[in-house]
Amino acid sequence: MKALWYDKQGAARDVLELGEMPTPEAGTGEVRVEVRASGINPSDVGLRRGRPGRPMQFPRVIPHSDGAGVVDQVGPDADPAWLGKRVWIYNGARAGRCFGNAADYICLSQDLVYELPARTSFAEGATLGIPAMTAHCCLFSRGPIEGKTVLVTGGAGAVGHYALQLARRGGAAHTIATVSSAKKADIAASGGADHTLNYREEDVAGRLRELTDGRGVDHIVDVDFGGNFDAGIRALALNGSWAAYASSGNRSPTVSIGALMAKNVNLQFLVLNSLPHEVRRAAQREVTALAESDAAIHNIAGRFTLEQSVAAHELVESGEKLGTVVVEHGGSQA
Ligand SMILES: NC(=O)c1ccc[n+]([C@@H]2O[C@H](COP(=O)([O-])OP(=O)(O)OC[C@H]3O[C@@H](n4cnc5c(N)ncnc54)[C@H](OP(=O)(O)O)[C@@H]3O)[C@@H](O)[C@H]2O)c1
Repeated sequence: MKALWYDKQGAARDVLELGEMPTPEAGTGEVRVEVRASGINPSDVGLRRGRPGRPMQFPRVIPHSDGAGVVDQVGPDADPAWLGKRVWIYNGARAGRCFGNAADYICLSQDLVYELPARTSFAEGATLGIPAMTAHCCLFSRGPIEGKTVLVTGGAGAVGHYALQLARRGGAAHTIATVSSAKKADIAASGGADHTLNYREEDVAGRLRELTDGRGVDHIVDVDFGGNFDAGIRALALNGSWAAYASSGNRSPTVSIGALMAKNVNLQFLVLNSLPHEVRRAAQREVTALAESDAAIHNIAGRFTLEQSVAAHELVESGEKLGTVVVEHGGSQA
């Protein structure tokens, strides 16, 4: 099969190789998926690039943890009903796995695939795994959000935009997003944000307290815990909750434990791939339900072929992507 891989970490153009690898066979409890599209997330490029203290965990990695395709083989003890089904995939190259979706075929546990709704294209399905499941886990793992005011920082981001859509479905009474431009404000509004605030220009905490009649927001889904801590702690309501999935602005912030205690903050930091199994199962189910609905919007930041994977990785690294960068395999758009 055709596959993209790297045997050492480094710049995309230096380490990514496209070539032939043996086609895998589905093992016990596994299905084999003919991959039609794969999604590239910031963590896929981060693992490929490497950083001090984060060496290669495997001699060879096929990147792109997320994908979508058609099940063409079912292994022993896997459900034969999967055969021929269109599916979306997560954790293809995480949690102990090194052969992801940047190949013609992937074999993986049937637990890591979920049926792709007929209305959802393979390219759209490849945007669901990390972005939409992370959004779901950040929204709901601290409890129901029905009737609550939810702040999504970075509401135009791949995760943030799904968080806004899922917050609507989850019954949030009021959704507010922070953004950095008018264009991103429009994107966040399309996802369901009732209000958008430009965090680079406005007094975010002050505006949030105004918008909530002084109460503050009940729950925060945060793309930059360190960078947003000062505004977030001022804007959070008493007994509020805060789920952080990244801290790119400041990875080692100094925070006031007293301020966190004074508000009884229910705080969670999370990495999707190792959350409890039942939390990930619920996310697969509810993300699929969103995709089945009329309201679903899947932001595709760019479409590439496997041959164009270097450019695709570089677009993710540029910080300019609006949504998820997708690689379409074998020329299949269906
Ligand atoms: N923990 C996990 O399991 C998990 C899962 C998915 C993603 N992640 C991480 O989460 C980050 C975002 O991923 P993504 O795919 O959603 O990226 P993305 O599509 O680039 O979105 C990130 C968004 O956040 C905005 N942003 C950055 N700093 C911000 C701040 N301080 N306040 C408000 N908005 C801010 C960015 O826009 P501006 O810069 O223009 O503001 C951008 O719109 C990455 O670091 C990724 O590795 C973690």
